Amino acid sequence: MHVLVVGGAGYIGSHMVKLLCRRGCEVTVLDNLSAGRRDAVVGGRFVLGDLGELDVLDDLFGANRFDGVMHFASHIQVGESVQEPAKYYRNNVFKTQHLLDAMVSHRTRCFIFSSTAAIFGEPIRIPIDEDHPKNPINPYGRGKWMVEQMLQDYDIAYGLKAVSLRYFNAAGADPEGELGECHDPETHLIPLVLQAASGRRPHVTVFGTDYDTPDGTCIRDYIHVTDLCEAHWLALQRLWDGGGSTAYNLGNGNGFSVQEVIDAARAVTGRNFSVVHGERRPGDPARLVADSRRARTELGWEPRYADLTMIVEHAWRWEVR
Ligand code: UFG
Repeated sequence: MHVLVVGGAGYIGSHMVKLLCRRGCEVTVLDNLSAGRRDAVVGGRFVLGDLGELDVLDDLFGANRFDGVMHFASHIQVGESVQEPAKYYRNNVFKTQHLLDAMVSHRTRCFIFSSTAAIFGEPIRIPIDEDHPKNPINPYGRGKWMVEQMLQDYDIAYGLKAVSLRYFNAAGADPEGELGECHDPETHLIPLVLQAASGRRPHVTVFGTDYDTPDGTCIRDYIHVTDLCEAHWLALQRLWDGGGSTAYNLGNGNGFSVQEVIDAARAVTGRNFSVVHGERRPGDPARLVADSRRARTELGWEPRYADLTMIVEHAWRWEVR
């Protein structure tokens, strides 16, 4: 099977490319390298290009017969999306539509979309299941929810089959140590904590200690990148087996506070780095935990690295490589 991975040079996309190659797929990566790295693409064929370049898409789909498309090429910073909504709607919505239109024109039917827990906004119940109301509170989440709705319409009108995977907090690194997280700037908690542990940063700042949680810091559901990729693989197979369009929430169902992540990092690294208590970051819900039972039941998805210590261990191995 030939899979096109858009954004395959980024954090999650690069892990996906490795898994697809291992499973015997032919892989083509399309990436504009705005955030990804060429050396993170450890298999398949690499094409440098952007979804905004319609001729690139036409050439790509004209020259290949793709059995599936996975789309990881989004901007991901919630705060930036509030400051620069045009950048987010252009890249995450309009350019995604270019990709979908190319798929429709070339009769490519199976699409796996990287969606996000940010489509739910401030949760009204925890854990968050797929049917939880969608009330995104920033342009990042709104754009992802727009694409999910677009996908429903494209299925009805054009028969495009799509699975939207709503990630909670993607974390960790390739257990073999070949790949990991390399965002610039880095905004995610676990790599920032580990950069403080390794001495690359003077300290880590805790954004808010007065939340309505047991220790006052925000609770998140951290999910290992390899487990996320496994869910993509199962979702693609579901479409190949004739399954219909749907969406799954992907998390472990266990919430860990910022303080618990810091404690886990101290235990794993054996280092006592400096922690500063700061203000709340605007737009952060107190608690986000996934109900992933649908993915487990319908896809047979079983996370292998559900333990926070293991997630931090793999990320640490990458940090000190
Ligand atoms: N945090 C800190 N200090 C830091 C960085 C983060 O205390 O230096 C806290 C945040 O306030 C939050 C938690 O650590 O409470 C996790 O923050 P991340 O930035 O790692 O992740 P988010 O939960 O903000 O974001 C993730 C994804 C987004 C997605 C969002 C869904 O990265 O793409 O979940 O709500 F939109």
